Amino acid sequence: MISTERIQPNLVTVANMDAEDAIDLIHEAQAYKAGKQAVLTAPAYAVNLFFENSTRTKTSFQMAQMKLGMHVLEFEAGTSSVKKGESLYDTVKTMESIGVNIAVIRHPENEYYKQLLNHRDLKIGIVNGGDGSGQHPSQCLLDMMTIDEEFGGFKGLKVLIIGDLSHSRVAHSNAMMLNRLGAEVYFAGPEKWYDPALEQYGTFGNFDELLPQMDVVNLLRVQNERLTTADGQAFNANQYHQAYGLTLDRAAKMKQGAIIMHPAPVNRGVEVDSSLVEAPNSRIFQQMTNGVYTRMAILSRVLRYQGLM
Ligand code: CP
Repeated sequence: MISTERIQPNLVTVANMDAEDAIDLIHEAQAYKAGKQAVLTAPAYAVNLFFENSTRTKTSFQMAQMKLGMHVLEFEAGTSSVKKGESLYDTVKTMESIGVNIAVIRHPENEYYKQLLNHRDLKIGIVNGGDGSGQHPSQCLLDMMTIDEEFGGFKGLKVLIIGDLSHSRVAHSNAMMLNRLGAEVYFAGPEKWYDPALEQYGTFGNFDELLPQMDVVNLLRVQNERLTTADGQAFNANQYHQAYGLTLDRAAKMKQGAIIMHPAPVNRGVEVDSSLVEAPNSRIFQQMTNGVYTRMAILSRVLRYQGLM
């Protein structure tokens, strides 16, 4: 049973989501994974407005929408009227006007959704599929589902988030939520890529010293597209792998029962040795499987608000 205060018009960030709220969503995702069937009260329509590249998030939302029985409209930013200068608000308002119920949006601008939520008459549900280096709420919740599935909770778990911390929306969302759920959060990686805003959620330390104590090693992709020109030119993939990558030598030092996570796409041989991506203790593809069920739970919350479920 979902409590009424947890039925929301939009889901754009985990910043305003408490631990109980996140656990509710994880439990509903687990129920969908166990075979729960959704029943819509009327036809419901979704569109996925992606202004940044995506493989997982876009197709996983599409799969979730189809599993819920929603109709999914096609949209390609590159062939849309965005190319003629149409604003994000006008694109979203157009979708609402033609009868779309939920727009899942990925956009390179941090907090792009604020400009939309400021329009109080916008009725269409907005779900954030990732904003710049800000938030990635559906990735965060699918990661929490994967950790919960493995360990049956979060209290006292030691989670290391390692890599390109300042450019990663996954790092920002996950650190915030792991801290809220009672996990001990640690960070490692190049100091120049550390974001002091993360200090409130955990402790920055040395990768090799922290690694043997960790229950979860949450690797981050190097966000080549967000590096400054100088940083990009200075970046050496092999040096990064030796200093901050999960090499075979480092993996051998992981605690018994510890798991490897990565939001993907993976730069194989950079953040992680290629052979570890599908190692027995890697949960990288399980994260993707869980993403579909997590997104079904997120969409269900918005559909309930609209009286469509
Ligand atoms: N993890 C993730 O957001 O992947 P995509 O960029 O492929 O959607």
